[in-house]
Amino acid sequence: MRVVAIDGPAASGKSSTARAVARAIGFHHLDSGALYRALTRVALDAGLDLEQLDVPALLARAERRGLGLRPAGEDFVPLLDGAPAEALIRTPEVTAAVSAVSAVPEVRDWANARMRALAEAGVPVVVDGRDIGSVVFPEAGLKIFLHAKPLVRAMRRLAQRGGPEASDEEIHAEADRLKARDKADSSRPVAPLVSPDDAVEIDTSRMAFQEQVDGIAALARAVYRLPEA
Ligand code: DC
Repeated sequence: MRVVAIDGPAASGKSSTARAVARAIGFHHLDSGALYRALTRVALDAGLDLEQLDVPALLARAERRGLGLRPAGEDFVPLLDGAPAEALIRTPEVTAAVSAVSAVPEVRDWANARMRALAEAGVPVVVDGRDIGSVVFPEAGLKIFLHAKPLVRAMRRLAQRGGPEASDEEIHAEADRLKARDKADSSRPVAPLVSPDDAVEIDTSRMAFQEQVDGIAALARAVYRLPEA
């Protein structure tokens, strides 16, 4: 099994980093959040009560709708009803509901089993999430934990949205929101955000994106004896 696990707090750049690293080393990128988002889409479509989630009903519907991940180039595309579901799972409605769904242990077990099955089938993957190195792939050959200071993450997130430059007030307000999320993510009872003891911790606050991608790709090449780029 060849797995690079990338964990970190909200807006630490995990997904974009994981995607770029996967391209650099010829692995597939697996975005674990997409599975939780697709499950949330199914729960919302079925009108299930998210506070008292009927997990067997949710998982039965997910299976019936063929919820899965299909390799596409270096990525995996989330599928529902046989069609790519990327647009359906990135809506504000799903974003608002996904925390409740991803907090349920049996839902996590199902998602984790899906991810492990892909890696065990021999697909080399770069997986990003919150608990990839700690829970999903504790045996991963390379675990990365990305940090960046809240103000830096806030500035990056606001810059991503495009449009007019963010004011100091907006940046500080976003940094406060991120700090509150860090606290909630680190203290939640199920699969809290932790940096595994054997993870390589990278503070990207002063790094350029390409620098962090190149650094992680170099570590992965060394661990998995991959050819140089
Ligand atoms: O990274 P994202 O925003 O697409 O993640 C969606 C949600 O799923 C987010 O609320 C955190 C949760 N999540 C999780 O609990 N564990 C993971 N491994 C990945 C995502």
